[in-house]
Amino acid sequence: MNKDLRSFLAEVERLGPEFFLRIDKPVDPLYEPCVIQQKLAALGRYPVLRFDRVKGSSIPLVTNLFGDYKMLGLALGISPDEPKRRILETFRSRLAAPIPTATVSRSQAPIKEVIRKGEEVDLGRLPILKHAELNGGKYFTIGFLIVRDPETGILNAGVYRHEIKSKNSFACMFNPAHHAGYIYRRYKELKRPMEAVLVLGHHPAAVMGSLARGAMESNELEIMGALMGEPLEVAPAETVDLPVPAWAEIAIEGILDPASETADGPFSEYTGFYGPAKDPVGLMQVRAVTMRKDAIYHDLDPSHREHNLSGALSFEASVFEAVKKLVPSVHGVYMPPSGSCVFTAYVQIKKRVPGEGKSAGLAAIAAEPNLKIAIVVDDDVDIYDEAQVLWAIATHCEADRDLTLIPNAMGAHLNPSAYGERRHEKGPMNTKIIIDATRPATMPFAERIRPPKEVWERIRLEDYIGRG
Ligand SMILES: Cc1cc2nc3c(=O)[nH]c(=O)nc-3n(C[C@H](O)[C@H](O)[C@H](O)COP(=O)(O)O)c2cc1C
Repeated sequence: MNKDLRSFLAEVERLGPEFFLRIDKPVDPLYEPCVIQQKLAALGRYPVLRFDRVKGSSIPLVTNLFGDYKMLGLALGISPDEPKRRILETFRSRLAAPIPTATVSRSQAPIKEVIRKGEEVDLGRLPILKHAELNGGKYFTIGFLIVRDPETGILNAGVYRHEIKSKNSFACMFNPAHHAGYIYRRYKELKRPMEAVLVLGHHPAAVMGSLARGAMESNELEIMGALMGEPLEVAPAETVDLPVPAWAEIAIEGILDPASETADGPFSEYTGFYGPAKDPVGLMQVRAVTMRKDAIYHDLDPSHREHNLSGALSFEASVFEAVKKLVPSVHGVYMPPSGSCVFTAYVQIKKRVPGEGKSAGLAAIAAEPNLKIAIVVDDDVDIYDEAQVLWAIATHCEADRDLTLIPNAMGAHLNPSAYGERRHEKGPMNTKIIIDATRPATMPFAERIRPPKEVWERIRLEDYIGRG
């Protein structure tokens, strides 16, 4: 038996309403669950939400599994009381040790409890949402798609936007730079259909594994196991030659025939703005849907906090490793949701050599094309406390010396401020910003004020002001 979506839901439910809320009032699949999630976020609340009654479907929906950094920690088994730095440390060490999948028989796989093939397939039974008014339609937003590289045979998994096209088809929008984009192009060149399985609903550590930014040769199913801390159990699919996670909630099998494509979008993107419609994109023709008999549907509200947080640890890990090569004393990397995660990094180093602050910023920027702002601070500045980061900028650095601008660098096309080779035209370039807010390594700097250690440890607030 694997950890799964249900085991995670039970865990967060036990932690109380800060982490889990169940809503039984009926909700409309047009925007309503998203707006409830957004209104809670405006109050600083990011619980997992379970909607038991989504109009038009008998299947419950859960969302906001990645709404908060603490929730990412919980997915890795780290208690919300532990220091936040443990979250990235754990993620990095697990990422480094992939665990091969374990194959189980179909009869041992709960994902096979219900099997619908051919004419029995009707995606309309699922509580699929329309998330934003100008979106092209309803979307699967957090299923992971499993495909196989036709040349190496290596399995790939990733999360892509999927606009529903009919009761048995949906679009697959692959960024050409992502591995699935390469793999799909290879099938196109070979004039062969690509088999695929879209998996909806599994333990959040498995979903995070599909978002890992590994090499093309790495098998993300093994990374899912690494992040879960146990082999991902898989069973053979019904209609395609691919494995299906045995403990997932819903699996949709089918083929993408490059001779029959579609268009998709616009879509509410991770920038907080609409991303343009795309034409052509892949079209998945569904052959079978298999699911647990009381399946739960997993959704994610795109263009809001959890869209970026879901992949944040993966970005942080790749920035951390890149900085570590140049500045081995790197202590931490945090990519905060306030800066869209992928666009902003706080890098914490123990500075020993003059220039290390700027070098850490350069390494961070070079590690990740999306990253636009790198702020480097000393190891006594808490990168998880934005007030401390801003304080470090305000008191440690002077712009003429410590601010570096790198124009015309490869960036994020979807970032609305991005530009092309002609500056006034849209394109994929950004001007990168490095702020070195570290203190000098060899020269004296102002003395930081701290309370006497003995007094700090001795004073207990409750002895002076009671518990109220
Ligand atoms: C909610 C969400 C939606 C995403 N949508 C897309 C998408 O539509 N197309 C895409 O190529 N990548 C998308 N991504 C990013 C990929 O899932 C991510 O980069 C993944 O690592 C790609 O895997 P691959 O390189 O193995 O294909 C999305 C990520 C998230 C979290």
